[in-house]
Amino acid sequence: MSISTSGTEGHLDYYVARGISPVHYQMHNLSEHFDRRDSLYRSLGLPPAAFRNVDVLEVAAGSGQNSLYLAAQRPASLTLVEPNPTGRRDIEAAYAALSEVPHTRPVIVPQTLQDFEPGRQYDIVICENWLGARADELELLDKLVGLVAPGGVLVITYVPLSGFFPNVMRKLLALRIMPETDDFERTTETMVEVFGPHLATMPAMTRSHRDWVHDCVMNPHYLNVALPLETVLATVGERMEALASFPRFAADWRWFKSLVGEHRAFDAVLSEAAAANVASFIDHRRLLPPRQDATTQALEAAFAELHRRSLAWQRAREAASTDERDALGRAIGDDLARIAALLSEIDAALAAAVTELEAVWRMPEPSAEAVRDMAAFGPLFGRETVYLSLTRR
Ligand SMILES: C[S@@+](CC[C@H](N)C(=O)[O-])C[C@H]1O[C@@H](n2cnc3c(N)ncnc32)[C@H](O)[C@@H]1O
Repeated sequence: MSISTSGTEGHLDYYVARGISPVHYQMHNLSEHFDRRDSLYRSLGLPPAAFRNVDVLEVAAGSGQNSLYLAAQRPASLTLVEPNPTGRRDIEAAYAALSEVPHTRPVIVPQTLQDFEPGRQYDIVICENWLGARADELELLDKLVGLVAPGGVLVITYVPLSGFFPNVMRKLLALRIMPETDDFERTTETMVEVFGPHLATMPAMTRSHRDWVHDCVMNPHYLNVALPLETVLATVGERMEALASFPRFAADWRWFKSLVGEHRAFDAVLSEAAAANVASFIDHRRLLPPRQDATTQALEAAFAELHRRSLAWQRAREAASTDERDALGRAIGDDLARIAALLSEIDAALAAAVTELEAVWRMPEPSAEAVRDMAAFGPLFGRETVYLSLTRR
């Protein structure tokens, strides 16, 4: 599936211009943090022994907190690529606080992935929560594949459009209610007040509401983070084979003795399971029975259409093309009505949440309170970040 993207700049320009790195884990307890990372990696086929004495690369390491777990598994080497100076300061601070735990000291590379040319490969390459589907980003995904040694593992995240849908709409609503001011701090406070009650419905969240607001609703490039599984698999092509995902939604009941040559088909098994579970990505609280029929196919198409229009709406707003923006706004209202109608065949509560959202979206000038107080849509967050591990042939 080819999806819409916009512009040429990325998160980095925004982070550096604002002097932020809004990806802090609120980490009160290192052992719980390590449990979370261990739970994730083991589900991706990477237990602690997989990291021991091997060469590990993490690109776009952010605050470096995720890498602490990797370092504590004592890899032979750990390389962290992070071009944002604020992020690198956070990495230094994170490791200063790890002095009591035996670990491999990382090499911190102050470069973009575009400029990073190590002239070697790594056993495990990790890059989470960064790359989207823009052509230049897919080239970088291709570059990551080249950095994985044969038999090695690449861990990335993708963002399915069904899981992304609730936050796509939060982003658009935020743009409609944002105060007309250049005061970054004031806008931050308003957005935290509006979306704080939505976020408070997710007690396991480890990021501050402030960081979430900076990274999602105030990040001008946020809509570009969409990255469907098909786009990833088409980009990595024959060079890699899907290993596992988290959440785990694919079962494989085949007899391993039949998994030879073209019959291995690990990517196809994963893709089919993803298509059958489109509805379960929409709401992180719900697990819906798998189904692959005209309704779920139409839903997937409707999410793609809504995402395409959302980018066009944001562009029209930035260009002050009021008529075009308003026409797109009406079409987005129609997309929401179609999504609600399709969802009513699957889950009445989900359909009601989207109907409530549609009513707020169609208001000529929605207030911050109307957005904040949506009772059914407020707690609706998708399974928007899906971890994927792949092995290099
Ligand atoms: C949303 S943050 C994710 C950080 C971290 N991976 C995490 O999951 O917490 C995106 C990261 O990508 C980094 N980044 C942006 N552009 C980059 C580039 N061209 N090369 C490498 N990293 C980049 C940013 O500095 C930031 O740390």
